[in-house]
Amino acid sequence: MDTQLAVSLITADIEDGGSMLSATWSDGRASRFPAIWLADNRPEGRQGTEGQRLVDALELPEIVTVRSASVVAAGVEVAFSCFERPSLFDPSWLREHALDAVSRAARRRATQLWSGALAESLPAETYDSITSDGTALARWLGYVDRLGFALLHGVPARPGMVCEVVGLFGYVRETNYGRLFDVKPLEQPLNLAFSAMALGNHTDNPYRDPVPQLQLLHCLEAAGEGGESVVVDGFAAADRLRREAPSAFAMLARTNASFRYVEMGVVDLRNAAPLIELDLEGNVRTVRYNNRSIGPLDIEADEAAAFYAAYRQFGRLLHDPAMTVGFRMRQGDLFIVDNRRVLHGRRGFSGGRRHLQGTYADADSLMSKLRILAGRG
Ligand code: FE2
Repeated sequence: MDTQLAVSLITADIEDGGSMLSATWSDGRASRFPAIWLADNRPEGRQGTEGQRLVDALELPEIVTVRSASVVAAGVEVAFSCFERPSLFDPSWLREHALDAVSRAARRRATQLWSGALAESLPAETYDSITSDGTALARWLGYVDRLGFALLHGVPARPGMVCEVVGLFGYVRETNYGRLFDVKPLEQPLNLAFSAMALGNHTDNPYRDPVPQLQLLHCLEAAGEGGESVVVDGFAAADRLRREAPSAFAMLARTNASFRYVEMGVVDLRNAAPLIELDLEGNVRTVRYNNRSIGPLDIEADEAAAFYAAYRQFGRLLHDPAMTVGFRMRQGDLFIVDNRRVLHGRRGFSGGRRHLQGTYADADSLMSKLRILAGRG
């Protein structure tokens, strides 16, 4: 967000016959506000400063122009062709919502890509700090926002605590695995997560739509030997693939892969979605990668060889030691990943009674909590 408080509005001039208002700010930034956008956002058309809208854009006339605009002590007074009374806009509101490129870029999420070097300073807080200090909680949630990954130490090693941690910022997303699930070796596991096998780096549950956005895993008992956890930034790997092999990146971004999880007579979950999903601006918004639940692929036969080449190239990047971060979960440790971005895995283990509990949550509540803690909501 902008630090708009230290910035003041200098000029507000009508442009283009009244279809645009052009403003300049004390820090040199220039912002253009379309007349129809201003008319649709008049303060009197809203319940309080940021409340719900009281008017419908359908009620505006086809042509809206600004008749006059003047900077006054209380803000910017704007008279419209279609309204009798002028409206008074708060300059800090205008700045916060300005449509110039710099202002729009400042509102985007501050994603920081990372590699194996993150191991030197793992993003971590303690359970005591985030439950007693809003600043520490904001820092911890901020790691999830920027890095897609954070550790928490000292979570009481009691069953169910993983859901208590979710309660600090949001709500558990219940699935067929329950409100929470136990990750410990079973004799004949239906899901290989519930074995002592090594698990390649993966995102969870790509067979769901929507995919669970956050996953938390809490260590109640550590493994005797092995069992280290591994995380890798799927966005950083996708960024590398885009630079090193653009045609492979494009193939994975335009092709739906098939994902499926079946327990006979109980669940048959299926989803078709790309391994690398892009937003409207071409930024990576979701990575899906799970060798246990992908396929059989439902793709054009002639595309298969190229798809597999791209898929394998991406998979090698996602397991490149230079990209991955390994750490050992001790009793009371918990980690959270943005499951749309960061893959997790584990090395095989033996001995001890490794027991983790996991759960899922959605990210909208986390982002909301972060804004509230930062005083932006
Ligand atoms: Fe997993």
